[in-house]
Formats: sequence, structure tokens, C-alpha cells
Amino acid sequence: MAYKKIGIMTTGGDCSGLNTVIQRVVDGCKLHRWDVIGIQDGTDGLYSNPAKTVDLTQNGSFQFANAHLAGSILSNGHDGAMNFKCAANSGKLTSFNKRLQKSLKDLNLDALVLIGGNGSLSLAYTYNEIYNGLQLICIPKTMDLDIPLTDKTIGFDSAVQQLTSFANQLLLVARSHHRWFVIQTMGRDCGSLALSAGVAVGADAILIPEVKFDVANLVKHIKQSKRDYGIIMVSEAISIRGHSGKPADMISRALSAANIPNRTSFPEHLQRAGDTTASDRILAMGFADTALKAIENNETNVMTVLQNGEYKTVSLNDFFDAGRKVKDPHIVGVMTSNRYVEPDDVLLQIATDMGIYIGEKRK
Ligand code: F6P
Repeated sequence: MAYKKIGIMTTGGDCSGLNTVIQRVVDGCKLHRWDVIGIQDGTDGLYSNPAKTVDLTQNGSFQFANAHLAGSILSNGHDGAMNFKCAANSGKLTSFNKRLQKSLKDLNLDALVLIGGNGSLSLAYTYNEIYNGLQLICIPKTMDLDIPLTDKTIGFDSAVQQLTSFANQLLLVARSHHRWFVIQTMGRDCGSLALSAGVAVGADAILIPEVKFDVANLVKHIKQSKRDYGIIMVSEAISIRGHSGKPADMISRALSAANIPNRTSFPEHLQRAGDTTASDRILAMGFADTALKAIENNETNVMTVLQNGEYKTVSLNDFFDAGRKVKDPHIVGVMTSNRYVEPDDVLLQIATDMGIYIGEKRK
């Protein structure tokens, strides 16, 4: 087998499962007798001169027993780090892109494994010249499950588990005080996390941006409930006409106005923490194996996916084409390819059948 030098990096927000996938790729590289380096702090590390790297082939401390824990051992950069957003805001996008390209060339890599979310992958598609001269293999990770063309992403299942455990515990607190908890979830513009955790915990209502809801009907639903406590799962991207502020607060105010005792709860980044679930670890193994095969087969500009039980790669072009395009919130002229909860999502039907209020009209 031909010798190769592989680079690996994590970009964007972290999620549980990153360390498992890094570990699996490193293990696989060793089996192939390929050298592998980690690029630290995402694009910030690549922008540094020289690039911030760690030798993962030799460095024993990176052979971690804690690969199942959250966060990224390679780090994802800090607020204000040099990333595409920061470069765009300071008018330095062109020189930033050139620097990344030069760093990758200086590192003499044959392939780069980029573990990223829909923002990072859309940028890799848009500014593809950065990766000229090497094989770019992307692995989709995100707790939001908003990446098109793959049934699963690293980190989603762990986030659902974390949020479900959190909500389960609140349910006991809710019961002893005869009150409702409005839990605001992460997930950006995609309702998958709220929907899955809401179904898992048996929430009484789940509000997501993909389904229009009516506050009066939500109130009616809660009042008609046979219990005087429960969970209302609210995705962070929902909005109510004429109201501003945090979505959970808006719903809470409406419930209070209808004399429904309630509290709000914000699990925030706890959703990204916690042990990586077995399902995410298996996914990490499948994606690592698929990525290594893609490197061996000299593929480039591809993303690993799981589709109907099959692990394979799709082109970055196909990834980009498949999603709904929205303007990048930070970079003028750049589009991000997004996945959302579709109207025919089986969980929407199951939730409805099981008497969970999910709104009125699927968008
Ligand atoms: O995209 C992952 C995510 O956790 C979203 O669900 C959330 O809206 C956002 O990142 C939070 O970002 P930050 O860590 O920068 O606050």
C-alpha cells in the first residue's frame, strides 16, 4: 500500500463523538502505516505560521483512553479565533484563504480529513481551491443533524441522549411542584434535536421551526392534559409573531397568562457534553473506515455518509446541491446547504399519533 501523510482537523462547534472519530481515523492510519498529524484549533491553527500541529502517529498522549468523552482533543478554536467569519468581518478573506492553502502545502499532506458541520462543509465546497493538491475527505459532525444526504451525523445521537436525560430529571421536579417545564433546546434552524428528544422523553408538546403552531391551541392542549405537570420542548429557532426574546420565555409568558404554572430551562452547552453514545461510536467507526477507504482509492472532495444502512461517500457537489441553500449568516455572498425536518418525517407522524402537540401546519 502506498505511503501517505494524512492531516485531520475539527472545525465549527464541538459535539460529543469528535474524539472517537479522531481516534478511529488515527488507528486506521497506523494500520495502513500512514503518518497522521492533527491540526489544532481548526482554521486558527492552520492560519498560524507555522501551523499548529501535533504528531498523532508518534505522540503517545494522543492515544487517549477517553476517546468516548465530549469535546475535541484537537480543539476547535476560541471566540475571535481566525476563522472564515473573522476573516470576512475584517476584510481579509482572500489572504486568509491563501494562508490556509499555503499551510496545507507546507505540511506536505496527501489527504486532509475535515470533520465539520454544514457551515464548514459548505465553505469547503465554496472555497475549494484551498485544498488543491490534496485529497479532501469530509466527515459530517453536528448535534443539529442539519447536514443533507446523510441519515446520521457524529454527535446527534449523543446530544439527544443528553437532552433526554436532562428532561427526564426535570420531569420529576415538575411533578413534585405541579408545574410545567419549557425546555429550550439547541439545534439552530433545524428541529431534529428537539423532535427526537421530545419524543424520547414523552413531552406533551414539541415546537420546532419547521411546523407552524398556534399558542392558543398549545394552551388548550396543556389545559386538557390529564396531568398538571410535564415537558414542553422548544427548539431555539421558533418564533412567535409580535414577540421577541428567547423562545422558551415567549412560550412561558403565554402559559403564565393562561394560569398554567411553569418554569423555563436552558440546558445550553450541556447538550454538547457527556459521554458519546454507542450509536455515535459505531457511526465514528463506520465513517473512519469509509474515509480511509476513500483515501486509499484516491478520492477527493467527498463526504462520508450513512444512507439506508450503507456507509459510502458522496461528492461535496452533491452535498451542496441536495440541501436548501440559505445565506451564510456571517459571510456576504456565501450560501450554506441545510437539511431540515421534512413534512413527511416519521417522528412528526408518531408524535401526532401519540397525542403530542407539534403544531398545526408542516412548512
Ligand atoms: O451548531 C451547533 C450549536 O451547538 C447549535 O445547536 C447552537 O445554536 C450553536 O452551536 C451554539 O454556538 P456557540 O457554542 O457558539 O454558542
